[in-house]
Amino acid sequence: MSEKENKIVSTLDGILKDPLKLAGAVIGATAVLGIFAIHMHFEVLPTHGARAHLSPESALAMKGQEVYMQEGCQYCHSQNLRSLDWEVARFADADAYGYYPLPHMMEYYFEAPSMRGSERKGPDLSRLAGSMNREDLEGLLQSTKSDTLRAGHHRFGHLFQSEAGMSPLFLSWRVRMMMNARAPLSDSYQKSVFEQLDGQTRGDALVEYLLTLGRKQSEFAGKYFQ
Ligand code: HEC
Repeated sequence: MSEKENKIVSTLDGILKDPLKLAGAVIGATAVLGIFAIHMHFEVLPTHGARAHLSPESALAMKGQEVYMQEGCQYCHSQNLRSLDWEVARFADADAYGYYPLPHMMEYYFEAPSMRGSERKGPDLSRLAGSMNREDLEGLLQSTKSDTLRAGHHRFGHLFQSEAGMSPLFLSWRVRMMMNARAPLSDSYQKSVFEQLDGQTRGDALVEYLLTLGRKQSEFAGKYFQ
């Protein structure tokens, strides 16, 4: 071993043997990786040409995505339809989606983090807008019964009862932070947060979000994202 290598080995040895040094090294490494993660940029995908029409969902739906995550829906539901015939037939209305029933990567472009998930205790929700409307969803989420699997897992009535947790300021900061990380959102989108969240509850935001799942693709016979 060269002298340099010897030095590295003895330094590492010193750190590993001294609990204080080891703790310091772990804290230091976590801080460095943390700062790196915070400054990681959104991947910039081209949004010109055929993709020039792409637009984010409303600010209320963005808030709804946050609620979805906070309430842990992703631990039981995926948004990740696989390319298997029986699966498409079960979770999506293939007629409504033309030749493009599967989620396209661009559908998650404005989501941070994306909720595709891999757990599937309940059905896949990526094509939900095609099968359930606003009343269905509000009814399901405000369920009070506990005698069925469906009702037992969805007692979220409290989300619709107060406007708590709907601070527009936090969401607008989040939008600004996403913009700083190069997400293609605009100043007017950031401003719209105040108007959109006004008088709404977390439940309303959640329903708004659920109604966007697969909506654009079904409206454009599967050709919105290509
Ligand atoms: C503990 C697991 C669990 C959690 C948490 C959960 N769900 Fe479910 N969900 C299920 C199961 C299981 C079903 C299927 C029940 C049935 O059809 O009998 C279901 C069904 C649904 C359906 C109907 C889908 C369809 O195609 O018929 C929707 C919509 C839904 N859940 C939304 C949500 C939302 C939104 C949340 C978070 C607020 C949530 N779920 C949280 C387990 C869960």
